[in-house]
Amino acid sequence: MNQTVEKAVAYDVERIRQDFPVLNQEIRGKQLVYLDNAATSQKPKAVIDSIVHYYENDNANIHRGVHTLSERATLSYENARKTVRDFLNANTEKEIVFTRGATEAINLVANGIAKDLSAGDEILITAMEHHSNIVPWQMLCEKTGAELKVAPINDKGELIWDAFEALVSNKTKFAAVSHMSNALGTINPIKQMIDLLHQFDVPVLIDGAQAIPHIAVDVQALDCEFYVFSGHKLYAPTGSGALYGKMEQLEHMAPYQGGGDMISIVTFENTVYNKVPYKFEAGTPNIVGTIGLGAAIDYINTVGIDAIAVHEKSLLEYATEQSKKIDKLRIIGTADNKGAILSFVLDGIHPHDIGTMMDHQGIAVRAGHHCAMPVMDFFGVPATARASFAMYNTHQEVDALMAGIENLIEMFG
Ligand code: ALA
Repeated sequence: MNQTVEKAVAYDVERIRQDFPVLNQEIRGKQLVYLDNAATSQKPKAVIDSIVHYYENDNANIHRGVHTLSERATLSYENARKTVRDFLNANTEKEIVFTRGATEAINLVANGIAKDLSAGDEILITAMEHHSNIVPWQMLCEKTGAELKVAPINDKGELIWDAFEALVSNKTKFAAVSHMSNALGTINPIKQMIDLLHQFDVPVLIDGAQAIPHIAVDVQALDCEFYVFSGHKLYAPTGSGALYGKMEQLEHMAPYQGGGDMISIVTFENTVYNKVPYKFEAGTPNIVGTIGLGAAIDYINTVGIDAIAVHEKSLLEYATEQSKKIDKLRIIGTADNKGAILSFVLDGIHPHDIGTMMDHQGIAVRAGHHCAMPVMDFFGVPATARASFAMYNTHQEVDALMAGIENLIEMFG
């Protein structure tokens, strides 16, 4: 056993696995190997219990009632905001807006800044973005006459720094970049990017949907204007998520949706909006999902995000090493700085067949374009198969993945 593997054993992954009930099952007569964490991660018992506890004891609407259940529900929901604040190291919990996920958070910002853009302005993204960080900006360009600029990537799936730098100018009015690519695993040099963009006074949104379960994030150190993420990739329920925004940005932005809770006074003539963050939380939110998000972060904190990062790095390195032994396998995305994602294609086997045949062996991987069609076009593939790792995956599961791929290659001749 090499040193990295030894370190991962000290991490006690078997103990962690016991906290995730779903992992303990067979699929088609084989022990489940769940390697589709970039799509959604499994939920620890602590999160499941928080949901059950809420519905069995506290269920009520928030910010509206004076009765005990409503007060309890409100307190739990607002405590989750403090938990997210601490996790991101935001300046105040008022800078945390709860959303349905990263997609809604990006759309919220794209709508909120529309009033500041006009023809001749530019919005900058990169060529490795998820559709969620492309389409809202295209829609914004359509609405305002601004132009979308795309910073290119190289054959390893890394941002080409010089080309990125050349695209930043006084015309750039906003930039939105992924912290970590969902299709390639590339981790962008976001601090360097933010610093450069700030030289031109460009506000920056970081799409942290993929990075958040793997990398410690400090929004004050990064100095980004916005950071968005989805709860469900962070071991929390689907339909939960958050937008971090600097207070002055959130105060300046127009609200996204109108409705209850986002107002302070309504008459037929005029409406005065509520304070930040409530200005952006119209309607009854995903109360239980948000409480579950708080529980997920509490759980992560018991393990430690840095310890998780070390473990996942070791899994990725091991998987990368092992996959290089398979002649017919080509890794898509070989950036020097990568998170725990292994995207690959196999000569002569369509990725969808890989996904299906892996499932027959109890192994869950994602096959498809991963909501990143421009990335697939760039690499000249219609789709890839993708194994993505989480805190509970093991080196034995990487072995099972490799054995599964070998079986597949043999089967297809
Ligand atoms: N965006 C998620 C993924 O990459 C669904 O799989």
